[in-house]
Amino acid sequence: MCKSDAGINDVFARFKGKREELIPILQAVQNVRGYLPADSMKQIARFVSMPESQVYGVATFFAQFYFSRRGKHQVKVCYGTACHVKGATRVLEAFERELGIACGCTSEDYEYSLERVACVGSCALAPVVVVDEEAYGQVDPGKVANIVKK
Ligand code: FES
Repeated sequence: MCKSDAGINDVFARFKGKREELIPILQAVQNVRGYLPADSMKQIARFVSMPESQVYGVATFFAQFYFSRRGKHQVKVCYGTACHVKGATRVLEAFERELGIACGCTSEDYEYSLERVACVGSCALAPVVVVDEEAYGQVDPGKVANIVKK
């Protein structure tokens, strides 16, 4: 048994394997593995007795689930209306240049993942960027290098 199997078995031990538990199971497995790799999706499907295609159908519906390994640091550029109007596109492009990756991608060293997200609820501070758990308000492209350095 590999280490990741042990983590998944610990997750499964907390559930009964019912279909209605699928979302909390997906969340728990993602917490253990950092994302939902194909082998875990297969195990989850078996555990809840659902076809793998249905499990993917549910998981892909929610933006919170990831199917590829993500970076140690998550950079989320808010793309809600207020942030978009106040220049989120220029901010996102600045992050793409600074990190050397396109939106939706992870750096080769797995240090950073960059994505755009829906309104994070701090519209008065638009444009907003969230790095890991820390929010930065009124971000302009000139501030991006400093945010990455932090
Ligand atoms: S639109 Fe960006 S915080 Fe609301």
